[in-house]
Amino acid sequence: MKNKYCAIYLSGTGNTRFCVSKLAKMLDENAPVVAIEDGEAVSTISAYDNVILGYPVQFSNAPKVVRDLITENVDLWKGKNVLCLATMGAFSGDGAGCAARLLKRCGATVLGGLHIKMPDSVCDSKLLKKSKDENMSIIKRAEEKIERTALQIMSGKFPRDGLGIFAHAAGLFGQRLWFYGKTKRYSDKLKINEALCTGCGNCARVCPMKNLTVENRAAVPHGKCTMCYRCISLCPQKAITLVGDEVVEQYRIENFIP
Ligand SMILES: Cc1cc2nc3c(=O)[nH]c(=O)nc-3n(C[C@H](O)[C@H](O)[C@H](O)COP(=O)(O)O)c2cc1C
Ligand code: SF4
Ligand code: SF4
Repeated sequence: MKNKYCAIYLSGTGNTRFCVSKLAKMLDENAPVVAIEDGEAVSTISAYDNVILGYPVQFSNAPKVVRDLITENVDLWKGKNVLCLATMGAFSGDGAGCAARLLKRCGATVLGGLHIKMPDSVCDSKLLKKSKDENMSIIKRAEEKIERTALQIMSGKFPRDGLGIFAHAAGLFGQRLWFYGKTKRYSDKLKINEALCTGCGNCARVCPMKNLTVENRAAVPHGKCTMCYRCISLCPQKAITLVGDEVVEQYRIENFIP
């Protein structure tokens, strides 16, 4: 009999949602696929033994809201079997391992780790920007890796991306040690260009953290940003930035996948 899974994910610009949905549907066509900000994430996890937990790597770490979902619900994870799926633009070393280590401490069994390279979502930095064709090829390779991995899992072999000691060292010394400050807390670094902002409220509607409000016809951030880049990629005025000071190229998976 096939195993029953549920899938929970954070996805700012759609990459992780796309990868997690594809894997979950291949492993269990009835798997619920639930966004972390959805009020049903915790109750869904508690109802399933097998969980796919997906998130985008941020500075070689798991996003703060994902770490909080684990550490603020310790009892939820006891006895769960979890597959960590981390999407990334280039490299993370131990992207899957970051959540896997926390989960183990909470009593979960880590089934495996899967790293999927996807287009970069940081739309206010020129670094890692690719042409549309290159991004299409990256997504195609990602789909192929997910298909291959699903077949291996169905035959009992789980991937081990990001879980070994060398991956841990690569993530730690390659990035996390230098950038840990950026992911330690929720960010208060989101910037609104008030000269561009029209107060349309789109950012406030889409933010998974409810971190934005509109006051006096301008968006106001409240210091609880999990750096997902959703508002930045969806602001019609390109008025929001975080890492950089100017929106270079807004990204979302829907521009590539119909
Ligand atoms: C704040 C931030 C930091 C990131 N840091 C990394 C990183 O350290 N390594 C990497 O390979 N990709 C990094 N990325 C790229 C994303 O992990 C990647 O594009 C991911 O697939 C986005 O997923 P999403 O569309 O589900 O949000 C970063 C993205 C953001 C927004
Ligand atoms: S989406 Fe952009 S223009 Fe609209 S309120 Fe937010 S920052 Fe302002
Ligand atoms: S403020 Fe923007 S980048 Fe931060 S969590 Fe909300 S949608 Fe994501």
